[in-house]
Amino acid sequence: MKAMMLKSFGGPESFELRDVPKPVPQAGQVLVRVYATSINPLDYQVRRGDYPDLVPLPAITGHDVSGVVEAVGPGVTTFKPGDEVWYTPQIFEGAGSYAEYHVAAESIVGKKPPELSHLEAASLTLVGGTVWEALVVRAALRVGESILVHGGAGGVGHVAIQVAKAMGARVFTTVREANADFARSLGADVIVDYEKEDYVDAILRETADHGVDVVFDTIGGNTLSRSPDVLAQLGRVVSIVDIAQPQNLVQAWGKNASYHFVFTRQNRGKLDELSALIARGQLRPHVGAVYSLADIPLAHARLESPNNGLRGKIAIAVEPSLIP
Ligand SMILES: NC(=O)c1ccc[n+]([C@@H]2O[C@H](COP(=O)([O-])OP(=O)(O)OC[C@H]3O[C@@H](n4cnc5c(N)ncnc54)[C@H](OP(=O)(O)O)[C@@H]3O)[C@@H](O)[C@H]2O)c1
Repeated sequence: MKAMMLKSFGGPESFELRDVPKPVPQAGQVLVRVYATSINPLDYQVRRGDYPDLVPLPAITGHDVSGVVEAVGPGVTTFKPGDEVWYTPQIFEGAGSYAEYHVAAESIVGKKPPELSHLEAASLTLVGGTVWEALVVRAALRVGESILVHGGAGGVGHVAIQVAKAMGARVFTTVREANADFARSLGADVIVDYEKEDYVDAILRETADHGVDVVFDTIGGNTLSRSPDVLAQLGRVVSIVDIAQPQNLVQAWGKNASYHFVFTRQNRGKLDELSALIARGQLRPHVGAVYSLADIPLAHARLESPNNGLRGKIAIAVEPSLIP
């Protein structure tokens, strides 16, 4: 099978498309023909060497699968050949999804929502599981509450806006002006152009100095350290971003705030929950660009570059017929 191998840690040129043996499913595993995968910031963080001890080289990386079961190992009862499935491979354990085939434990694999194409489904597994963990499990967002979603046009943010609306929240989001209509179309109630206005001023103005109940930090840096400035009393902050520097959150004490840090690993149950929102028409991932398996280095370079013109996700059409 063809696989995009990471030969060494570094830039996008560190990848090489290679022919490698097709994996064989062992007991409790399914062999999946990968139709689509997607690109996440985690992928370029791994590629450039942020987690060298967790990724033995050469490696097949990639964290989303949408595809079709080709064969099952002994003892598999939930799936049979021909079933459409989606999942996030075990992060930092075994091969990833940048390949024509992938094997996974039956326990992490979910039934793909029939409403989504493979490109859409592959664009949701990692970010959707992250958003569910952040908003439902950790922040426990309630009907009528307010939430600030930072980076509302991004892979995570555009899903968070939709899930927060489905949960009955008033949604504030930060995007650049070019993405304001996109964020509005996803259901955001208040758009803050982060390039034109300081988001703290905007949130305090829009909430009459009350602040928001939940801050969802997808950016890092001052979005975390300034979160107490935009929080209502008893507010919650969920951050999904690696914190490079120590942060002074002393003002959070005055807000009786709770902080949650999320690193998503297992998503199957959360994907089943998201499927219900998809079936009701309340959630649909946005595929902003599609690249082939061979063009993964170009897709990495694009996602990594600032002002890349992207909305939503970059999907990878592993099955050539899905390339638009
Ligand atoms: N912990 C976890 O489990 C987990 C899971 C998924 C993702 N993450 C992390 O979450 C972060 C976001 O991931 P993603 O997939 O959403 O990335 P992404 O698709 O690249 O989106 C990032 C978004 O942030 C916007 N942005 C940049 N600077 C901003 C600012 N100052 N204010 C508001 N928006 C800004 C970008 O828009 P512009 O076009 O305006 O620049 C872009 O739309 C990454 O660091 C990723 O590693 C963590």
